[in-house]
Amino acid sequence: MAEFVVEFGKSAAMPDGRLNAPAFQRNHEVIWAAIAPFLSAQNGDVLELGSGTGQHATTFAARTPQLTWWPSDIYPSHLTSIEAWRRHAGLANLRAPQRIDLTDAAWSWSAAGQTGAPLAAMLCINVLHISPWTVAQNLIAGAGRYLRGGGRLFVYGPFMRDGQHTAPSNAAFDQSLRAENPAWGVRDVADLNTLARNAGLTAAEITPMPANNLVLAFTRAVRQN
Ligand SMILES: C[S@@+](CC[C@H](N)C(=O)[O-])C[C@H]1O[C@@H](n2cnc3c(N)ncnc32)[C@H](O)[C@@H]1O
Repeated sequence: MAEFVVEFGKSAAMPDGRLNAPAFQRNHEVIWAAIAPFLSAQNGDVLELGSGTGQHATTFAARTPQLTWWPSDIYPSHLTSIEAWRRHAGLANLRAPQRIDLTDAAWSWSAAGQTGAPLAAMLCINVLHISPWTVAQNLIAGAGRYLRGGGRLFVYGPFMRDGQHTAPSNAAFDQSLRAENPAWGVRDVADLNTLARNAGLTAAEITPMPANNLVLAFTRAVRQN
């Protein structure tokens, strides 16, 4: 799994295991601006998938004391880093990281050893282009299972729109990703919308971000039962 940690390998871990992602330093404020209007008005639980260093969950938990945050990842040093950031921050509303592998179609999250309550939101930042398509499928199917009615899945990263790259730099990035691993690649919002429809979610509400990235917000339909 070392291929997932290229970016994090650039900066040495602090003695307690905290990692620093340069991308977090660049992107967290603009992501926050896109998700804050919804999250600030919610209470309940937020699950983050592919939390990486844990810096997003830690920073956003500090800004939403009324929400309980549940970070997750698959990579051991990332789980260590998330836990180290959690201890460092000492936030009452940031829970210990759990191992969730989105290649597993039957993935689940747990709160105190049991499947948690329906989620207010899910967050997945910079994961879908460096993982197989099945990760996108399982993420969105999971959003259908675990979000409460009106809950939202927020996804950040580079995306195509209707078969077109949004910038030449994204097309080049896509090519380099596929050269590194044929299962990776910049995903198309239209394909994600198809998955969302099948999972009982709306099509993505799209917020443009700097550097040709997008925040996609999928909303779970209000449940009938
Ligand atoms: C580029 S990093 C982004 C990390 C973090 N979200 C951020 O933006 O700083 C991609 C993350 O996805 C995680 N990841 C990769 N494959 C995964 C999978 N199958 N299930 C869950 N997480 C995965 C990696 O371990 C890594 O932490």
